[in-house]
Parts: sequence; structure tokens; C-alpha cells
Amino acid sequence: MEVLGRWGIVDDLPSIRRQRKVPPRFGEGFRERLKGIPMTESVKGVILVGGQGTRLRPLTLKLPKPMVPIVNRPFLEHMLAHLRSHGIHEVTLAVHYLPDHIRGHFGDGREFGVKLNYAVEPSPRGTAGAVKNAEEYLDCTFFTFNGDVFTDLNLSEMLAYHRRMKARATIALTPVEDPSAFGVVETNAEGRVLRFIEKPKREEAPTNMINAGTYVLEPEVLDLIPPDTFYMFEHGLFPLLLERGERVYAYPSNDYWIDIGNPQQYMRLHHDLLMGRVSVAIPGRVRQEGIWVQDGAVIDPTAKLVPPVVIGESCFIDPGAAVIGPTVLGAGSRIGRGAAVEESIFWAGANIGEDASVKRCILGANCLIGKGVTLPEGSVLGDGERVS
Ligand code: GDD
Ligand code: MG
Repeated sequence: MEVLGRWGIVDDLPSIRRQRKVPPRFGEGFRERLKGIPMTESVKGVILVGGQGTRLRPLTLKLPKPMVPIVNRPFLEHMLAHLRSHGIHEVTLAVHYLPDHIRGHFGDGREFGVKLNYAVEPSPRGTAGAVKNAEEYLDCTFFTFNGDVFTDLNLSEMLAYHRRMKARATIALTPVEDPSAFGVVETNAEGRVLRFIEKPKREEAPTNMINAGTYVLEPEVLDLIPPDTFYMFEHGLFPLLLERGERVYAYPSNDYWIDIGNPQQYMRLHHDLLMGRVSVAIPGRVRQEGIWVQDGAVIDPTAKLVPPVVIGESCFIDPGAAVIGPTVLGAGSRIGRGAAVEESIFWAGANIGEDASVKRCILGANCLIGKGVTLPEGSVLGDGERVS
């Protein structure tokens, strides 16, 4: 909690520009063979949303990670839309940290076009333990999703592949530059999983293909997860399935993929969305190319807007202010007279005073930056912080 009231600095933001896609190492032509196969059966989904989001602090001190806004909509809304678009209509949320925020917003899911169940853990059960805790809702083949991954992964194709391989478990893989922060998955030429190495040293990773946090699982694997116990897919169930000789397959793809677990990645996702590197419904009407304005926003004619920017509902952009993209302003934000905001994300109600200047920062809800203040570049401020 001591972080509140101080600033965290995003010190390696330039890395957002270095990200590039690396082709998978095996399965040439693999994607082409699978294209166009629609989801032919109804499956269910479980989303793991119980983590505390520690690497996103101070932003997640009061808000669980799945609720953090992505272009002014909670992250989980985007995820549910993706699942729905692939025909997944019943989803269980495996929750632990601040569950009331999530339930309060999503309720029974009707408003979001899905049926939602909640499986609440009294204490964190780990990734596989959380799914075991949701067992009562899982009576057929199901998807499991890490609740902090933004992806346009083709779930229908993945399910078709799982069926073709007659797999017990299929794990989506994605290429990354540095696999050391992830689970590395080694496969044979046919895509069968040989080995799991969770968070290896960079030089010890045998491949740059990592566990992308989306799995298709057969319900029988639930019998291998101990009940009421902390148990992980990564260190527990997956190695156990391999030991037992079960059919565990990898599904590599070059689809868009990012884990929003830290401020740099959170910022990078916004850049990618606003630059059109991945498609998403951006709220608001298009005032000119790359400038989206939501209802009730008041923009002074002398203010300068440089795309891509999203101006949230009822924002005020005062005379002579500049908003330079990629920038997203949450509902009710205010940019004071002559102030400048550049490459930043403001949550609802963030306010910067006259002649203040903010560059490559993330401001939590209702932050207040005083007149003439220049924030250190790359600052991350938690909800309600004041700087004068
Ligand atoms: N319900 C519940 N209970 N959810 C949990 C728990 C728990 O005890 N622990 C973690 N989660 C959720 C988190 O909220 C997150 O959505 C997801 O499980 C993954 O946890 P992270 O803490 O974000 O893991 P990670 O990013 O370090 O690593 C995982 O994801 C990588 C891909 O992003 C691993 O699965 C890696 O192998 C993988 O490469
Ligand atoms: Mg993560």
C-alpha cells in the first residue's frame, strides 16, 4: 500500500517500439491448412481472474486487473466480446481478488451477451486449482484463459485443431523476443508438447515459443487436479499430463498477443489498438481520421489534437491545450488551458491544470496534476493521486 502517493516510473517504454513478430519455428503452412474452419460445437470458457495484478500497481490497488480500462472499456469486456465472436456463450469467472468489482459490473453477463458463472476462491488456488474450483460448471470440452491476455487468437481454429489431434489438452503458443518472463513450451515437429519450462533464464530457453495462456481441455483432466489445494497448470497439471503420456498439443500462431501484466505492456496495447495493429471497437464518433470523441466532450476550437486520440465522455479540453496521440482520455478528464498531454493514458476523471505537461504517463482515476507541473516522463500514478 505504501506505493500510493508516490510515483512509479515506466523506465523502459522505448521497448514498445522494438516489439516485432517472430514466425513460429515449426509447422510451415500450418495456419493455412486450418483457415476457415468454423467452431462446430458449443464449448464453455473459464477465465482466470483471481490474480492481484501486483506488477500493475499502483493502478491495481483498488481495481482488479480484468477491470482496468482498455480504450475506456474494462479489459474483460473486450475479452468476452472475443469469446462471444467465436460462439462461446457460457463463461465462468474464477475470481479471488476484489470479486465484487467484477460481479458488480458484469452481473449475470446478460448485458454482455454471455451467461456468466462465478467460482470464488476463499484463498488463491493457483491457476489449475482455480479451474478445479469451477468444476461444477465444466461438463464438456472447455477453454481456459489467463485473464490478462489481449489476443485475437482464432479460437474456432484452435478447437478444430484440438479435435483433429484428438488431444487431451491443447495449449496456444505465441512467439516472443524474450521468453524469460513466460512459460516456454518445447514441442516435436508434429506439435506434440515435449516439455514445459516455466520462466527460464533467457539463455536457457530452448525456443522463443511461449505458453500464450489459452488452453482447450477435456473435462477428464479435472480429475487430476487435487481439490481445495493450490495447484498450477504450469508446474503441476501440464507436466503431469506429459508424464502420463497424455496427448498434449501446442497450437502456435502469429495472432496478436500481449500480456497486459505491467504498465509498459498496458501502454503498448493502447498504442497498438490506436495505431490499428489489432482490430477493436473504439468508442466514440470519428471526428477526423484517428480522432474519436465520445458523448458530451467539450473541446475548445483552439485546442490542438494530434491523432490517434480517444477523448472520453464529458471530457473538457480547454483553450490552447494540446492532446497528442497515441493518447486515451477517460470519461470526465480535463486538460487545462495551455496544458499538454502526449502518448498517455488517463483514467476517468484525471485532471491536469493550466500549462501542466504530461508525457508517456498513466494516470489513475481522479488524479489531479496542478498548474504548471511537468510530470517526470513515464510516471504511473494510482487513483486519486495529487501532484502540485
Ligand atoms: N482465480 C485465480 N486464482 N486466478 C489466478 C490465480 C489464482 O490463484 N493465480 C493467477 N491467476 C490468474 C491471473 O489473474 C492471470 O489472469 C492468470 O491467472 C495468469 O497469472 P499471471 O500471474 O499473470 O501469470 P504470468 O503472466 O506470470 O504467467 C502465466 O501467463 C503467461 C502468459 O501470459 C503462465 O501461464 C505462463 O506460462 C504464460 O506464459
Ligand atoms: Mg500474466
